[in-house]
Amino acid sequence: MGNMTKKESTAEENKNIQVVEMYSKHPWPVNRRTAEEMGWRLRVLGIHPSEYQGQRVLECGCGTGNYVIWYAIEGQAAEAVGIDLSDGSLAVANRLKEEGKVENATFRKMNVMDLQFPDNYFDYTYSYGVFMYTGDSEGAFREMVRVTKPGGTVTVSVYNAFGRWPITIRQKILKKLAPNDPDKRVALGLKYFPGPYKKQDKRYYGLVTEQLAYDTFGVPYEDVFTASQVLGWLKRAGVQYKGSFAPLRISDYFYAFSLDEYKEFRSTFTGYPATQKISDLLYKISRGKKSSEWITEFKYPGPLSRLFCQMMWLLIGGSRFSCFTISGVKQ
Ligand SMILES: C[S@@+](CC[C@H](N)C(=O)[O-])C[C@H]1O[C@@H](n2cnc3c(N)ncnc32)[C@H](O)[C@@H]1O
Repeated sequence: MGNMTKKESTAEENKNIQVVEMYSKHPWPVNRRTAEEMGWRLRVLGIHPSEYQGQRVLECGCGTGNYVIWYAIEGQAAEAVGIDLSDGSLAVANRLKEEGKVENATFRKMNVMDLQFPDNYFDYTYSYGVFMYTGDSEGAFREMVRVTKPGGTVTVSVYNAFGRWPITIRQKILKKLAPNDPDKRVALGLKYFPGPYKKQDKRYYGLVTEQLAYDTFGVPYEDVFTASQVLGWLKRAGVQYKGSFAPLRISDYFYAFSLDEYKEFRSTFTGYPATQKISDLLYKISRGKKSSEWITEFKYPGPLSRLFCQMMWLLIGGSRFSCFTISGVKQ
């Protein structure tokens, strides 16, 4: 673990074990409609289907395996592997694989910090909403890059220090009230801060509110990051920037909203009226500029543009933009 002392690293590991235990009891995600999210997100990240079709794909921290199954079926990966430490989540993932007879998907119990794969093994690796629970997110990212082939695509998604802020404040209050009792934090969270859950219930189509609240208030520990920090991980790991979702440059929003794929993604803004209104407006404006061009490498975002976009995620997106995603190519 990076520059940590042995004592610090053991403390971080213990916190991570608690997170995994929580997800084992309350697996995540449930009821997600993965297909409607993928088209727009991948295009805005600059990812072309040729990067995963017929390729060997890995998800670090796959939870209940929704994304892995999407890559195995719709994504037509040759092989899609999901690893996670949560037995409860892996049981759901394996059930989905059996039910769908998804032969090319595999789920294994493994720590993202210590991947049991050789160097340069996968063509395409990604991790969504996981590294921030490890206590050494950059170390987890480096490990994912290690198992990626040079020229392969790497994508990472973690909580954003700006977009997550409204939730972070609520988490801090609840931690003061019930530091060691996730069930109590969830009960209090639902009582005093029910807003985001009602919204997300709509988005996740009838998902039990409590399961969502565990993902937010039940987790004993999480880190948040700025875009600059994550771009630093890419630089130090020898990964060249491809794109960001949501974009980190204003002009890239006009490209994103000129794409047909937005129409399918739009319903994921359900329950976030401000985000939906502004997105629809951008869609209207950008349709005139419609281009069939498939950008696979966006311009690197400068510091001012990064700051501006992250402020926007906080002001417009609210908790909808808790997580941000960065893609790149291993050099
Ligand atoms: C919020 S869920 C994300 C699931 C999935 N990536 C998704 O977005 O659909 C976080 C997952 O990270 C897993 N996790 C946390 N720390 C881990 C570790 N050190 N190794 C493997 N999995 C881990 C948890 O067990 C949980 O399933």
